[in-house]
Amino acid sequence: MRKARARSGAGMRKAWAGRFAGKTAPLVEAFTTSLPVDRVLYPHDIAGSVAHVRALVRARLLSRAEGASLERGLATVLRELDRGRFAFQAADEDIHMAVERRLTELIGPLGGKLHTGRSRNDQVALDLRLWLRAECDAMDGAIAGLQRALVKLARRHRSTILPGYTHLQRAQPILLAHHLLAYREMLARDRARFRDCRERADELPLGAGALAGAGFALDRPFVARQLGFQRVTANSIDAVADRDAAAEFLAAAAIAMVHLSRLGEEIVLWSSEEFGFVELPDAFATGSSMMPQKKNPDVAELVRGRTGRVLGALVALLTTLKGLPLAYNRDLQEDKPVLFDGARTLREALQVLAAMMPRLAFRTRRMAAAADGLLLATDVADVLVERGVPFREAHEIVGGLVRHCLATGTRLRDLDAKTLRGHSPLLTPALVRGLTPQRSVARRRVVGGTAPAEVLRQLTRAEREDGR
Ligand code: ARG
Repeated sequence: MRKARARSGAGMRKAWAGRFAGKTAPLVEAFTTSLPVDRVLYPHDIAGSVAHVRALVRARLLSRAEGASLERGLATVLRELDRGRFAFQAADEDIHMAVERRLTELIGPLGGKLHTGRSRNDQVALDLRLWLRAECDAMDGAIAGLQRALVKLARRHRSTILPGYTHLQRAQPILLAHHLLAYREMLARDRARFRDCRERADELPLGAGALAGAGFALDRPFVARQLGFQRVTANSIDAVADRDAAAEFLAAAAIAMVHLSRLGEEIVLWSSEEFGFVELPDAFATGSSMMPQKKNPDVAELVRGRTGRVLGALVALLTTLKGLPLAYNRDLQEDKPVLFDGARTLREALQVLAAMMPRLAFRTRRMAAAADGLLLATDVADVLVERGVPFREAHEIVGGLVRHCLATGTRLRDLDAKTLRGHSPLLTPALVRGLTPQRSVARRRVVGGTAPAEVLRQLTRAEREDGR
């Protein structure tokens, strides 16, 4: 907006000035403008205008020469914007008016024919859908980038064992690869949600006019083809009034961001001295201005922290929509700040995590040590079950053993024959000595389990689906 401020719009005549005798208060111009936010829509706005010009020519509302001249003018405006040489003015209410104003400066009164059969209401709905389509694709690529980083890391840690947790209490040994691939699965569903959103957003709203439909015989399917839309919207009122495509996008973004937030939280925990599972790369950590020993996981914390912004964006948009009567209301202009901010926040989080994850140094010995001991209790119960003991009974027996271990400071695998026999005639020192985290994970060969062979199978599938 620096440029817009530099040049005052005083003297510029507004597109709707006919109805008005007096001028807009500068305070109102500043309050109502959306230009600082919606200027990023310009490539879509101009692409939409070019398609509209072609539809006007097709409907014989413009001559071929007029159409060509408008397209040339729009190309010039696009070039100026691309090169950052476009001079915005304070009276430009939004990107749509700025483009049309400049077009008219360049080609004269013919510029005034561009808006034939069109309203800013269907125009902005079009721009938004074009933006959403592109952003869904970009998001898919960004999520795939993090997936690949996780999968690569998982391949390196196919035999690294760590404790899996429930209630943040050590639960059972798992493979680090298995844990990382859990996030890969969440991200796969996130990608599917964005694909789904794109598919539903893929409709042309242009032709809806202000709300009732354009008053000219515009060939909407033709325009849709020009812009690569699969369909045209079926109801002109709906086309300009709803923003559910944006809400779906933000819902998908909010869910994805929650996934990243949980990953961020785990990195924060794992890099703490208490866990000590991971050493952050220097390039992705920060220090303390006061405490010389500190190495802080700020990246992971900010991923977690910015999640609130994305969730807020979704709620803000839905709140904007909930009380609006049909059709367009200026409130709808508030869709863009939250939509763009939510998208940017998620995209940046994906990028920084994809760069950081491969550089985490896992302290595998510490992880393995933490995965040994009483976490193997379930395996003792499983062995008893294999010898015919009902699971509930086995659970009770091993619970008693655990209590004994805790009271005497012994490990399960060091329990002597007499103690074991005291709890169950089926238990022997040979049996408990054979219990290791490695054997524990190896038992879990079910589809989706943490056994190395199964994890490798899932890993290979992920590599095939996500690309390397
Ligand atoms: N800047 C507006 C928006 O983002 C464009 C549509 C304005 N339409 C209107 N009738 N004032 O929603």
